[in-house]
Amino acid sequence: MSTQKIKIFDTTLRDGEQCPGASMTFREKMEVARQLARLNVDVIEAGFPVISDGDFESVQAIAKEIHGPQIAGLARCVEKDITAAGEAVKPAGERGRIHVFLATSKIHREFKLGKAQEEIIRLAVKGVQQAKTFVNDVEFSPEDASRTEPDFLAQVCQAVVDAGALTVNIPDTVGWSTPDEFGDLIQKLYESVPQFRTGEAVISVHCHNDLGLAVANSLAAVRAGARQVECTVNGIGERAGNAALEELVMALKTRPDIYKDFTTQINTREIVKSSKLVARMSGLMVQRNKAIVGENAFAHASGIHQDGMLKNRNTYEIMDPVDVGWGDTELPLTKHSGRAALVERLTRLGLTLSQADSDALFVRFKEIGDKKKFVYDDDLLALVEGQISKAPETWSLEYLSVSSGTQTVPTATVKLIHAQTEEQQEAGEDPQIVQDAGTGDGPVDAALKAIDRITQLRGRLMDYNIRSVSRGKDALGEVVMKVDFGDGQLVSGKGASTDIVEASARAYLNAVNRRLSRKG
Ligand code: KIV
Ligand code: ZN
Repeated sequence: MSTQKIKIFDTTLRDGEQCPGASMTFREKMEVARQLARLNVDVIEAGFPVISDGDFESVQAIAKEIHGPQIAGLARCVEKDITAAGEAVKPAGERGRIHVFLATSKIHREFKLGKAQEEIIRLAVKGVQQAKTFVNDVEFSPEDASRTEPDFLAQVCQAVVDAGALTVNIPDTVGWSTPDEFGDLIQKLYESVPQFRTGEAVISVHCHNDLGLAVANSLAAVRAGARQVECTVNGIGERAGNAALEELVMALKTRPDIYKDFTTQINTREIVKSSKLVARMSGLMVQRNKAIVGENAFAHASGIHQDGMLKNRNTYEIMDPVDVGWGDTELPLTKHSGRAALVERLTRLGLTLSQADSDALFVRFKEIGDKKKFVYDDDLLALVEGQISKAPETWSLEYLSVSSGTQTVPTATVKLIHAQTEEQQEAGEDPQIVQDAGTGDGPVDAALKAIDRITQLRGRLMDYNIRSVSRGKDALGEVVMKVDFGDGQLVSGKGASTDIVEASARAYLNAVNRRLSRKG
């Protein structure tokens, strides 16, 4: 049997972004899409266009700008969804794909949709036919497929393929299945629908990780006949997430004895870079022991392992870290590095900034360079992210002073600048600067309270994480937080500084600005 290609369908920007607090701004999504193209995924599911104007615009912009991968937009089997998806992916031309879905399981049919089996088939076929009027490349997903009666599922697959679907995606929507069971299901479908065997239509799988089996289920499906896997970078996604792209790709590559018939087109050396970018853009940090992309994935601490490694790397290492993009040793920049060195480093990191952004970044780089001896690539990524993740800045930090100690009530004084309206700018008015102070049970609490007093917003911190971006006592501290401004919606904020109270204030202001721009 000749080697068969497994298509990698990346849904980081759709299912990944759907997870609470991971929502990305337009510019963040564009950066991720550019990186996915460098990673060489086959399909980028760029969003769910009908959901909001923002989603529509980002799918459309990705379809326009990104060359190489196919660009998919998600739609329910509803006319307005399909029209929005069709319009959004149009700039991708032949590479545009509409992904329509409809639940098929008994529990969804009875409790969510109130529809009988025949009606489900009728709607699915209609959805595919409508999508076909916009693009040739239509994918259909029977949502909650793994809990659908297998014979009915096979009928749905046959009907949508006959209606023109080129891909039928079998989602394990609630992460219910196990590898043997899921493999058997895929094999049954492969055998039931002749077009799957002739290659006229492709089986895809989309596994969630509620039982930690998303990657194992996907791999079992590949052996049973699936030729496309849907996944996300770092495995981010609804609840426990989706199958992790890096784990799937590296399992297929590292075990040719088992997966000898299969290959992907992924440029694996871009994996670590993609992981870091998605972690920063989504605010979902990667745990240290995460396979392939965690900080510890290739760190051998025990003496016995180190000794073995020195004698022969294969004793304890099954993959070469360089193959996934670890270990490109960087020479850190310093405050003496010039603009050309900065731009050259950014280009090497795969970042393309506008002139205005790179000017602003150069100023922040010099500020940081004054405070710490070496500016590492991770420091730069944090600074760039601060620039990219900026919402329109209604409020910006002008000044922060904090006093705290074991015998003092922590107090913070904050000065914020309020953005001018166009009329104020035209009238030549000075920007409005507002100062206030707050006390709290610690310096961060005091600073955030002072910001609340100025902005008149009351945010509740629902999650707060701080970590050092690079090494050394003078490292940049990066704060990622999720804030609820009273409507139950989580808004994420990120900020970095060598001073962790300032990093916290910057992250909180980032959330405030995102909140205000979303409202606007
Ligand atoms: O998990 C799921 O069922 C989905 C579908 C929309 C494919 O995300
Ligand atoms: Zn999903």
